[in-house]
Amino acid sequence: MEHFKNPRNMGEMKDADSVGEVGNPTCGDLMTIYIKVKEENGKEIIDNISFQTFGCAAAIATSSMVTEMAKGKTLDEAMKITRSDVAENLDGLPPIKMHCSNLAADGLHEAIEKYRKEKKSSST
Ligand code: FES
Repeated sequence: MEHFKNPRNMGEMKDADSVGEVGNPTCGDLMTIYIKVKEENGKEIIDNISFQTFGCAAAIATSSMVTEMAKGKTLDEAMKITRSDVAENLDGLPPIKMHCSNLAADGLHEAIEKYRKEKKSSST
């Protein structure tokens, strides 16, 4: 509940390096994750991250949690944050709300994949 009442990193990021957008087929809610990546010692690190969601309370809480978990991580590490990691960090969600937490992890992965794709195409 704490993350719902005081969501971290909420809002659009105008200068994001990549944006992941996912929709939730179960309820129709939408989630956007923005990431800013910096390179340090040959590693790509999530320097900043924010989210916007048109979703329920659980979606807001899990997005807030995902952004906190991913900040400062390398892209590889962030790719490994799974749906269940997120739910566990929130001390478990009621089963009916599990799909809400999927949105946040999926959005993060989508943003990273897009970032990598764009990078690849711009370096060739
Ligand atoms: Fe749609 Fe939770 S009910 S994201």
